[in-house]
Amino acid sequence: MKIVKSPAEMKNLSLTHQRGGRTVGLVPTMGALHQGHLSLLAIAKRDADLAVMSIFVNPTQFGPQEDFQEYPRSFEADCAKAEAAGCDIIFAPSVSDMYPQHYNTYVTVEGITETLCGKYRPGHFRGVTTVVLKLFNIVNPNVAVFGQKDAQQVLVLKRMIHDLNCSVKLQIAPVVREPDGLALSSRNLYLTSSERANAPLIYRGLSKASELYQNGERSVSVLYQVIYEEYSNSEMLEIEYIELVDIVELKPVTIITSPVLVAVACRTLESKTRLIDNIVLGGAL
Ligand code: PAJ
Repeated sequence: MKIVKSPAEMKNLSLTHQRGGRTVGLVPTMGALHQGHLSLLAIAKRDADLAVMSIFVNPTQFGPQEDFQEYPRSFEADCAKAEAAGCDIIFAPSVSDMYPQHYNTYVTVEGITETLCGKYRPGHFRGVTTVVLKLFNIVNPNVAVFGQKDAQQVLVLKRMIHDLNCSVKLQIAPVVREPDGLALSSRNLYLTSSERANAPLIYRGLSKASELYQNGERSVSVLYQVIYEEYSNSEMLEIEYIELVDIVELKPVTIITSPVLVAVACRTLESKTRLIDNIVLGGAL
């Protein structure tokens, strides 16, 4: 496995492979790798000849009060995990290579970035779309893989790719979970032991809603209520939002007649960790 730091070198490598008729798959990450990230790599390997994983903790997607400084960084261990999983190239640029002095260009997807997480993390998606478009321009991937864990991110990137005519195919990977249902996340490392013990209720609430839906329930207020009750019993979590929205405009719905994203965000009370999760009812992203 090759470790590449320079954007120019990365671009050359990709173009050389593509001139030889080989396709490139990209998995963008911020490191602190877990099985969720590695499942994306497996899809990139399946769908492309060369698997590139980027590791870059992107400062522009963190708010001033957020955890950019504390975000877990474990580059050596990440490289070992990626190599064992069959990664061909790690692309790990520096902040100053990605955002040099006088940097002044940002990509904004409007509308669908203002709801759900966007409401609580102003500027977050602008940072995500900016860095992902930069990664697309550097790596020039034929395929890029993202996780449904960050469902709004997937829908925002889908919109950007469509609106800006990017020539990359987006693949969506299912959420990888702990045996007790908690979605894997680099931020789970922040949880105290009692928070960790409580956290599976996030997916439990979603599963209860899914079960009701499978049994024919289509009323959003009924599905909302079952999730709300599961969460409001917890002394470890506070609800940031529980939303049931359509998967194109991310607008609230009242009766489910087409695919609906059930997205939730909670904050733990001790370590103040923000945890998100989601399911899609009646379809897929
Ligand atoms: P990060 O949080 O490191 O996640 C990298 C990718 O892994 C994302 O596509 C995310 O959805 C996926 N992922 C995380 N946890 C997962 C899980 N439990 N199951 C499946 N996939 C999972 O998302 C980002 O980084 C950044 O915003 C990035 C896209 C890299 C831009 O900076």
